[in-house]
Amino acid sequence: MINLIVGTNRPGNNSLKVAAQVEEIYRDLGVPLRVLDLAHLPQEIYLPSAYTVKPAGFEVFSDAVIHAHGLIVVTPEYNGSMPGVLKYFIDMLKFPESFCKRPVCFVGLSAGPWGAMRPIEELELVFGYRKAFVYPERVFLPLIQNMLNAQGRIVDAEFLGRLKSQAKGFIDFVERLDGVHLKENSQGRDHARELDQAGRMAAGTGGISKEV
Ligand SMILES: Cc1cc2nc3c(=O)[nH]c(=O)nc-3n(C[C@H](O)[C@H](O)[C@H](O)COP(=O)(O)O)c2cc1C
Repeated sequence: MINLIVGTNRPGNNSLKVAAQVEEIYRDLGVPLRVLDLAHLPQEIYLPSAYTVKPAGFEVFSDAVIHAHGLIVVTPEYNGSMPGVLKYFIDMLKFPESFCKRPVCFVGLSAGPWGAMRPIEELELVFGYRKAFVYPERVFLPLIQNMLNAQGRIVDAEFLGRLKSQAKGFIDFVERLDGVHLKENSQGRDHARELDQAGRMAAGTGGISKEV
């Protein structure tokens, strides 16, 4: 399962609209996503005590991250950076197992012309520090207020193409790293990939474990 984190809790945010379209792209490729919307975090997570004792309602988020084969982060740019709630969410997740050896890719959006390049590059540092497998193809969506139509959808062929290309590449990246088939309609595991995975495990170079 690939899970998508919506990186803001701002009411009416554009990130959720982009996330819905990303979800649609993956569904068309036969890979359903689970969306983790930070707007739905339990209010108690914002208490200082949450650093030591997590509220019950947070477990669904932290478990979803830990059990994900891969993560997609859709982040807006706030003050030249990622939203505070996204960094805080990361800080609340279990260390070190949440991101260690977990594939992750990034989609950014901004009102300005850079499409959240700065927050994505900051996130790459954070996820790199946490030993995630960062997928190198990023998608930056600039001038998002012009890019979304009245229905809140991206119709620009160039940017849609980038989102689709990233999705195809990321699915392949996750499947190769985890030795799993994500597509719902696939006919079991690919034999060649199984052999490859078995070979890598025998050689002691594969066998990715989520537990550390
Ligand atoms: C607190 C805040 C800070 C923002 N800072 C920036 C910024 O530094 N650069 C930028 O291009 N857009 C900035 N924006 C605009 C967002 O990029 C814009 O709202 C966009 O729609 C993505 O965010 P959203 O998912 O909250 O809608 C900011 C928006 C907010 C709410």
